[in-house]
Amino acid sequence: MTDTAALHAQQMAYWNGAGAARWVERQARMDATIAAVSDAAIGVAGLRQGEKVLDVGCGCGATILALADAVGPGGHVSGIDISAPMLEVARQRTAGRAGIDCLLADAATHPFAPASFDLVFSRFGVMFFPDPVAAFANLRRAIRPGGRLTFASWRAFDENLWMKVPLAVATTLVPPPPPPGPDEPGPLAFADPARVTRILVAAGFEAPVFTRFDLPMRLGDNLDDASDQAMTIGPASRALLDQPDDVRQAVRTAIRAALAPYAGADGVDLQGAVWLVRAGSA
Ligand SMILES: C[S@@+](CC[C@H](N)C(=O)[O-])C[C@H]1O[C@@H](n2cnc3c(N)ncnc32)[C@H](O)[C@@H]1O
Repeated sequence: MTDTAALHAQQMAYWNGAGAARWVERQARMDATIAAVSDAAIGVAGLRQGEKVLDVGCGCGATILALADAVGPGGHVSGIDISAPMLEVARQRTAGRAGIDCLLADAATHPFAPASFDLVFSRFGVMFFPDPVAAFANLRRAIRPGGRLTFASWRAFDENLWMKVPLAVATTLVPPPPPPGPDEPGPLAFADPARVTRILVAAGFEAPVFTRFDLPMRLGDNLDDASDQAMTIGPASRALLDQPDDVRQAVRTAIRAALAPYAGADGVDLQGAVWLVRAGSA
């Protein structure tokens, strides 16, 4: 198997297995926490009524609904995702709404009709391509001349305290996950604007514009809830994947203590740090 094929197989397995199960289970909570990201990204995209949008890695469909509201009844939103369980939730949530379709396919290679979208959009769904230049070149061909790409991706690990605080304490008790290679897909693969610029320009886009967006990531309504969330989504959860119950329990206790300084009156919030990226189709 080539590196690209092996990485693709890993992504397919993750987003149709452990990753999907977690996002589906926590869908309502994740949507509430990161709705601010899609609102801000839709603002950066400058969406207009009647436009046609492709939502890449649409997951459980929250952004399809937000985009459909933004383009109105004359517009159209196509969601695409490789995760069958997550796309099934998206299909159920969007059933009966005109101007929406959901496609189970790989956005990196799907043969989209050329120049068929005004905007290619994604909230945290474009960092997982094994060959990002080829994938973005494929997406660029789907954008009409003068159209644009807008996506949200995580900034550096150190700025994302909701990832850093739980992982730092978890790795006092379990081995840290191997650091990803500089070109490997993953949640933090687009933290470096220089790398993202290289990829997008090589794929035929104009040099992108990066806007910082910070938000409080609500890990839970109280410390127990937040500890469960930190064990379920994010890098600490990946470090715990194969650990036995007694180790997981010890990590949970340690994470709970580490989160205590972030507990407020109505919940536990840690900083999330996001890039909003916009690039014209050159
Ligand atoms: C972190 S989740 C984000 C989901 C959704 N955009 C949201 O914000 O709720 C990443 C999503 O990207 C999808 N994905 C990963 N690689 C993909 C690919 N090559 N083509 C389409 N979707 C992909 C995953 O299946 C998953 O649904």
